[in-house]
Amino acid sequence: MDARVETSKIDLSDNATFAHGFPHDHFTWAREHAPIYWHEPTAVTADGEGFWVMSRHDDAMAVMLDPVTFSSDKGGGRTGGGTGLKDEYQAGNFLNWSDDPRHQRLRSLVNKGFTNRAIHALEAELRRRTVALIEALPEKEPFDFVERFSRDLPLQAICLLLGVPQEDRAMLASWVDAGIAAPTPEIISREYAQHLSEYGARLIAKKRANLTDDILSTIIAARLEPGEDGSAGGPLTDRELLNFFMLLFAAGAETTRSAIGGGLKALMENPEQLERLRGADIGQMRVAVDEILRWTTPSIFKRRTATRDVDYKGHPIKEGDKVTYWEMSANRDAAVFDEPFRFDITRSPNRHVTFGFGAHVCLGASLARMEIRLSFAELLARIETFTAEGPIEWMPSNRLLGIRRMPLSIRRRSERRAATA
Ligand code: HEM
Repeated sequence: MDARVETSKIDLSDNATFAHGFPHDHFTWAREHAPIYWHEPTAVTADGEGFWVMSRHDDAMAVMLDPVTFSSDKGGGRTGGGTGLKDEYQAGNFLNWSDDPRHQRLRSLVNKGFTNRAIHALEAELRRRTVALIEALPEKEPFDFVERFSRDLPLQAICLLLGVPQEDRAMLASWVDAGIAAPTPEIISREYAQHLSEYGARLIAKKRANLTDDILSTIIAARLEPGEDGSAGGPLTDRELLNFFMLLFAAGAETTRSAIGGGLKALMENPEQLERLRGADIGQMRVAVDEILRWTTPSIFKRRTATRDVDYKGHPIKEGDKVTYWEMSANRDAAVFDEPFRFDITRSPNRHVTFGFGAHVCLGASLARMEIRLSFAELLARIETFTAEGPIEWMPSNRLLGIRRMPLSIRRRSERRAATA
């Protein structure tokens, strides 16, 4: 089999390739025959430029753990960069699109709002909200699980965390959703990013005038230490604050929903595991949550930019080249996971890379894990059967593997028990 011919058959830069879910067959083939290859640009590739594709777990780890060679900012004299395929001119100004030491300074600042204590303080309130959403699900007619539950819970959580009024959440989410679904190489189309940005600017101005105890207020009040590289300390600028708002809102709203929707789909396809999870204690539930995260991998790939010429396992990566690694593929790598295509809620250890690794490891990981745990503990304590009422619709995006619609009907349990996890 000619690897060049095989790899050219699938366009990973085209959103349409992901319209029916992740192209696992291609990646299973690639992991074995062409674990690192050069993807030529096609008519729809962002910036008209090719990129490296890495599909194995060990290569994804190697790139993530070497941020000096593989930059999240620009690299190679570029004027744009970032972690999506398209060069972003704002690279360097967002936490996830910057490199150390600046990245570390910014991160230490937001960390103040993301302590375990801060997240755990939300648990009781989030559980109450989870139960309220479940109690409001209709029993007599089919409904869209995404709209009624998996999209809303993470939104409520991020609004609580950021101090966004709950009544604005549907409007904000509709901008993010429409922005992702728009046929554009940006993660969120410019038009909708603009709406989000104007809203964020107003919110920040309001909070500045009246600081409270949410994360946004914490970040507004925080002061950066002066950098060892001579950069000035002090408060974040309005632009930097706005970038935090945009990043946290989009990251918090878009990803966890796919894990909850995709997790329920996997459990419905594996009813014996669904039954096992019903009685799980908190430890077992935590193990299951990680398998749901491995299985669904909502954020499917990342890009870095090579900052120097490097011979990587015989591949001549040039300074300025775009290098992508595919977390979803790494999470199905048989070199790391026994029977990777088996969904197994008892899988342990589970070295998934769903939250990334190293300097940029997901800041919201404990919040996301908590949302998923509460969702399944409470859903399974209250609902006896889940029945699919039509095909799932995927978000046509090569960046976030989202379920856009999931028609379901349910039958409640006759006797509701308290959730055990
Ligand atoms: C299942 C849900 C989630 C998944 C799969 C996910 C995935 C990821 C991944 C893979 C990264 C690393 C990016 C990189 O290396 O370039 C990341 C970073 C990040 N995530 Fe998440 N995330 C989730 C939920 C959340 C939530 C709920 C929040 C916020 C409330 C959040 C906030 C962030 C932030 C701020 C970063 C940037 C960290 C940095 O660059 O230092 N994430 N996430």
